[in-house]
Amino acid sequence: MNKPGCTCLALVAALAVSAQLRPVFAQDQVSSTGTQTQNFPWMEVRLSPDERADMVLKQMTLDEKIDLVHGEGTPDGGKPRPNAYLGNGGVGFVLGVPRLGMPIIQMSDAAYGVRSSAENGRYSTALPSNLASAASWDLQVACEYGALIGRELRAQGYNMTLGGGVNLTREPRNGRTFEYLGEDPILAGTLVGNRIKCEQAEHVIGDIKHYAVNDQESGREEVNAIIGKRAMRESDLLAFQIGIAIGDPAAVMCSYNAVNGDFACENRYLLTDVLKKDWKFKGFVLSDWGGTHSTVKASAAGLDNEEPFDDFFGEKLKAAVQAGKVPMAELDDHVCRILRSEFASGIVDFPTQKSVVDVDGGFETARRIAEQSTVLLKDSHGVLPLDRTTVRSIAIIGPHADKGMISGGGSAQVDPPGRPASKWQEQVWFPTSPLEAVRAKAPGVNVQFDSGKNPSSAAALAKKADVAIVFAYQWTSEGLDLPNLSLPENQDALIEQVAAANQRTIVVLETGTAVLMPWIDKVNGVVEAWYAGSKGANAVANILFGDVNPSAKLPMTFPRSETDLPHPQLVMPPPGAQGLVAGVKTAETRPTFGVHYDEGLKVGYKWYDAENKPVLFPFGYGLSYTTYSYSDLKVKPGKETTVSFTVKNIGSRAGAEIAEVYAALPASVGEPPKRLVGWSKVQLNPGESREMSVAVDPLYLSGYDETLDRWKLAPGSYTFMVGGSSQDLPLVEKVSMK
Ligand code: BGC
Repeated sequence: MNKPGCTCLALVAALAVSAQLRPVFAQDQVSSTGTQTQNFPWMEVRLSPDERADMVLKQMTLDEKIDLVHGEGTPDGGKPRPNAYLGNGGVGFVLGVPRLGMPIIQMSDAAYGVRSSAENGRYSTALPSNLASAASWDLQVACEYGALIGRELRAQGYNMTLGGGVNLTREPRNGRTFEYLGEDPILAGTLVGNRIKCEQAEHVIGDIKHYAVNDQESGREEVNAIIGKRAMRESDLLAFQIGIAIGDPAAVMCSYNAVNGDFACENRYLLTDVLKKDWKFKGFVLSDWGGTHSTVKASAAGLDNEEPFDDFFGEKLKAAVQAGKVPMAELDDHVCRILRSEFASGIVDFPTQKSVVDVDGGFETARRIAEQSTVLLKDSHGVLPLDRTTVRSIAIIGPHADKGMISGGGSAQVDPPGRPASKWQEQVWFPTSPLEAVRAKAPGVNVQFDSGKNPSSAAALAKKADVAIVFAYQWTSEGLDLPNLSLPENQDALIEQVAAANQRTIVVLETGTAVLMPWIDKVNGVVEAWYAGSKGANAVANILFGDVNPSAKLPMTFPRSETDLPHPQLVMPPPGAQGLVAGVKTAETRPTFGVHYDEGLKVGYKWYDAENKPVLFPFGYGLSYTTYSYSDLKVKPGKETTVSFTVKNIGSRAGAEIAEVYAALPASVGEPPKRLVGWSKVQLNPGESREMSVAVDPLYLSGYDETLDRWKLAPGSYTFMVGGSSQDLPLVEKVSMK
């Protein structure tokens, strides 16, 4: 059986020719991944990854093949791990084939930085959350994000990342929203693709996850996501499709949940029909940790590697191959995909060598990305930027605002320096102090702090100050969903009281998803800083004082209330559900409850648009300290439709504007009112204008036709809209397409 994707098995003829080439070997090195490159014919770097993989595959025994298709356990898995000594302290690893020069795959979680550094006596930079980075809408930011993580992984002895989360924000209470890139498939897919491209350029195996429709944490290991094919292809799957097309990740992690009845890691439609056949994915699929549920079914469906143990892809798979229940060609395809990925990513030719992480460089990158990611949501009566010449006193209020800023929890957690390893679901504050950062910006200003624990004392401090800044937070983590979108710990009351004492109140939000703001009309300023990373406070202070002009825009809608969500109530597992825990499954299991994603295509702003529901802050929204005007829209339909227009900075400060392009499809297609189809970010000095041109991929104007089982660009009238937010689109032009 020769499945699409890995072409190893079809390359016998090519190999006869290539064997005559004079070998060019990568430098011989001994590495943390356990190999020394040797003069094997497959070390010839001019051969293609497929050719090289095929040559290795031919040398492998059945046991070696089986070793490659499962992990060797996870440090906290509670099961014996005979090979533990070969690990690198990460969450998993796959044995290499030392006699053939193939390295161990050392994996680490690395959503917004490399995990478990404290436990291993190492150091990692915490970048702003993935969601924050999406607010930059900036491909360069995505690239720097991936490159930094790639470098820090290698410095710590890893050659595979488990980052690259791109599940869409269908359910904003999802505790992992901070690990993903918002609610729009084109924005999220483009950004994750650019991240992966630059991460893999550092010679690590890249990953995109959690495939697919893993949109809530509640009951994630036993929930069945029920969703129509078209809705899935045009929303959640489209983000993966674009991310894979741009980033060409070597690995896809399938998710815990089931989709339309079959667990994602044994779902033939997802893994084979869509991923490997339709998208021509050439890498390998690994299961989320404990997300494998079977041997024969999962293997046939297209799972290539079980993580973190070998419950199904160890002895059971070997026996199934020997009994003919899993064809050898199918096992070869799994192995070939893994070998190919090792060559394609460069982990064979460029073995990792541990080194010291560049701490200063990491700080610099983290701060710059945070500055590009911080969204100015409200600025009335000229409260911002703060003017050092007129403001004499500032009250800094909020739990921990003297010491640090909150970070997102779970397997994404990065450890802050100078403290013990973070525990699972512990609230971790990074030592980036808003109080100190504000003081450093305004040496002559009297800056005082109150934790806000007692709102009256905070209000008393605010009353005496010229400006009050409340740092409010909402902690979220893998494994938990939020019960609601309100700020926890009485912070709404704190903000109300501070705002009542001082009109010039600014709220800085440190959140992992949207929050409700019952006090919005009472404060003058709101800044969304998300989980801002290692240098978050410096970035926020630069924005507050206008040293950086904010340019970020929301990658997700902030609703007015949970009652406006497609599912006002989170769907929870029923009483008596199995309460499955990842990593300890020993028998085949079934989903115990379903979530009907009956909003279908209407994810995020598409829902609010279609249902005519007003929102607190729309998708794509974000203010600047200057203003921009839009003019001269021209739409040129063609193979790629070109949308050009002029943006002018009509304010008095330099700034960067993210210009957004939306399209409404012909009514016959039956789509929500509009969709984002492109954007461009432009830096403009005061008075400067620039003509911009955005090329729109025909896929982004297409709908998924379920009957034909393919994308279709419908003939008819398309309306293009351009502006600075999904609800501020001054330029409109209709064109007809054949
Ligand atoms: C998470 C994955 C993670 C894995 C390994 C799982 O619980 O869902 O995102 O990569 O654990 O830590």
